[in-house]
Parts: sequence; structure tokens; C-alpha cells
Amino acid sequence: MQAQRQVIRCKAAVAWEPGKPLSIEDVDVAPPKAHEVRIKVVATGVCHTDWSYLREPGVGMTLRPFPLVLGHEAAGIVESVGPEVTLFSPGDKVIPLFLPQCGVCERCGSPKTNQCRKNWANTQAGVLADGTSRISCKGQQIYQFLGISSFSQYTVVPDISLAKIRSDAPLDKVFLLGCGVSTGYGAALNTGKVERDSSCAVFGLGAVGLAAIMGCKAAMAKRIIGVDINPDKFEKATLFGATECINPLEHKKPIQKVLVELTNGGVDYALECVGSTAVMSAALESTTDACGTCVIAGWTETEAMSVPVVKLLMGRTLKGTYFGGWKGARDLPRLVDDYMNKKLKLNEFITGTLPLEQINVAFDLLQSGNSIRTMISLQNPRVGSTPVNL
Ligand SMILES: NC(=O)c1ccc[n+]([C@@H]2O[C@H](COP(=O)([O-])OP(=O)(O)OC[C@H]3O[C@@H](n4cnc5c(N)ncnc54)[C@H](O)[C@@H]3O)[C@@H](O)[C@H]2O)c1
Ligand SMILES: [Zn+2]
Ligand SMILES: [Zn+2]
Repeated sequence: MQAQRQVIRCKAAVAWEPGKPLSIEDVDVAPPKAHEVRIKVVATGVCHTDWSYLREPGVGMTLRPFPLVLGHEAAGIVESVGPEVTLFSPGDKVIPLFLPQCGVCERCGSPKTNQCRKNWANTQAGVLADGTSRISCKGQQIYQFLGISSFSQYTVVPDISLAKIRSDAPLDKVFLLGCGVSTGYGAALNTGKVERDSSCAVFGLGAVGLAAIMGCKAAMAKRIIGVDINPDKFEKATLFGATECINPLEHKKPIQKVLVELTNGGVDYALECVGSTAVMSAALESTTDACGTCVIAGWTETEAMSVPVVKLLMGRTLKGTYFGGWKGARDLPRLVDDYMNKKLKLNEFITGTLPLEQINVAFDLLQSGNSIRTMISLQNPRVGSTPVNL
């Protein structure tokens, strides 16, 4: 209980302003308030969404306030809990959720959606339920990206924004389920509902796209075509289940035409995992006009996609997915079980490990296409943390 009254001083990678490298700082992480949990973050990944927000603010994402601590794909251990927290105790292994599951709202009760709206506006604005963040640096409030901020050794999140996972789960692997892998895997299984013996095309072979391929394979699709402008991604795509891979840059015709010809009329499912409106249109048009389904996982909050109505009239379906349709608190423990039972790959997504101090290198690796996910280790001995009495 003593820990609850203490601020923890620890290291975090602070984004002071857009476009600038992250800066490793001493931050103060306040004790959790009612219905909040303070967690020691053990491992985190850099998702393309963190990258877009820092490096291309306003391009794909609406501006959110700076300074902030990014990071939303993570795993950690509960350090302390605030008043009225009943489901978590210190020592529990957890995965933070950028999409909560309050369990009581109408949407949480619906099998059709995972779009719990509890705390939504605050989470998007980088603050917790009371309108403030728990992280500060040199006395200044630091916003919590998507309500999480996993590029900090400690953070505080609402108790509805956490999935409790089994105690033997390796945190340096299952952090991937906090965003990219769950998103792509669920895009195929939950949103697309890919069927056995179907044909699929997955655009973009980063963590989200590779996980989408893994989902198509789990659904027993017959043909899974990986599409990327970086052919270095093809080997991994094949490992995850792609039956063939195509580089659009090697074709004179638009990629949708290539795919329609290759499949005699279009694929049954196309999954867009890039975040480009041009690729989204290509993905839609690569599906069979009679009954193809296009799922958009790639992110843009600012751009519009133009769809000629006739492209839908014959029977295509266009869908989007957020966090792969998973209800996090309920479903992530099951995905962890699937990993532990070797039904789901995670290790293969990790292309390197770096300490928090070198997190900017992980951003560069993602940008240059030289990584899938770099595991950022937050608790290595060189970056210590100290409790500070209030
Ligand atoms: N919907 C969600 O809930 C959700 C969750 C996580 C990530 N995302 C989004 O998913 C997207 C992918 O994330 P990621 O972390 O896997 O990114 P990533 O950068 O690791 O992978 C993107 C891949 O797309 C490829 N690519 C770029 N342009 C292309 C083109 N024209 N045609 C084909 N391939 C192309 C790149 O070479 C790269 O391999 C991003 O837009 C991210 O913001 C969405
Ligand atoms: Zn993400
Ligand atoms: Zn809810």
C-alpha cells in the first residue's frame, strides 16, 4: 500500500515536439487514482502509428497535444493499484489496451463490435478519465498517447484498459498482442471473416500485414498473396503463410489489375495494412466484384478515400477494423494461450532488441523497412527507477 502514495521517478522517451527525436528524460509517474493501475512496463514495440504521429503529424493523424510519451503496444507487471480496483493486484502480468473494454456499455455487450466508448475522448486527447495525465517531467504535464504511454518505465492506465494474462507468459514476446499482431490477425479472422479455401491478398507486409497473413492461414485460405513494394519482406511473408508474393513496382499495370488477372476475376478478401488511400482503392478493386470483401487496417484520420459507387454495386463489401475487432480484456488472454500452445507465432515478428535509450533507432529501422518489430526493453539495468515520497 505504501507504493500507492509514492511518485515513481523513472526514465521515459519524451516527444517534446513533432518531427524531433525522442528525448530520454527523468519523468515522475503519479500514483494511480480510483479505478487506475500503475504498471511497470517491461517490453514495448514501435508501431507504425507511433511513427506516423511523431514523424508525420497532421499527415495521417489529427494533431494531438505535445509533449507526450508515445507507445501503445506493450506488456508489463502491475506495480500498484488505486482505490476501487478489484480485478488486478501487484505482480499481475498485463497488456495495456488502447481500446478499453468496460464490460458494461451497450457496445461491450454487443457481439458485433469492440468499440467501447468509455473514456474515448480523453484517451484520444492523451489524458485519463479525470482530464489529466499521470506523467510529468520537470513539473510539466506530459500527455499519454492513446491513454497508455508505454515508452516509459512506469505508466498509469484505467483498470478497464488492461488485459490480465497468465503468469508464465513471456512479456518480451506477448507485448506484440497489444497492437500490431492482434490487429492484423483479427482483421482477417474477425472483421474479414476469411473463409476456408478462399483467395486473399494482403497489402503491406509489416507486423500488421504479416499477422493478417497468419490470420488468413489460420482460416485455411487456399491462396494468400502478399503485396509489398519492399521485396525484403517476402521471405517473412512466406514463413507466415503467403503462398506467393508480388511487388507492384515490378509491374506496368496497376496492382489491382495484376491481381484480378492472376485470380481470374479477383480475390475473395483483400486486407489493406499500409495506411495509404491509393492502396486502399487498389485493395478494394483487387477483390471479385461479385462478393469480394476489402478490410482496411491501415490508418489515416485525415485523408478521404474516393470509391466509385459502381465498384460496390455488384456486391463488394468495404470494411474497416480497429484493433482487429478483439474485445481486449476478454480476448488477449486467449491469444496469449494460443501463443503458448504454438497456434500463433510471435517470436518471428521480432527483428531486434534495443534498450529504451536507443528507441530512436527503432523508429529509423521501421521507416527504412529494416525491421518488423524491434522489442524495446525498458527494465535493463542502465535505466533505473526510484520511488519518491510525496
Ligand atoms: N486499424 C488499427 O487498429 C491499426 C492498428 C495498428 C496499426 N495500424 C496501421 O496499420 C498500418 C501498418 O502498420 P505496421 O506497423 O505494420 O507498419 P509497417 O511500416 O511495419 O509496414 C507497412 C508496410 O507497407 C509497405 N508499403 C508501403 N507502401 C506500400 C504500397 N504502396 N504497396 C504495398 N506495400 C506498401 C511497406 O514496405 C511496409 O512493409 C499503419 O497504417 C498503422 O498505422 C492500424
Ligand atoms: Zn499500433
Ligand atoms: Zn464498454
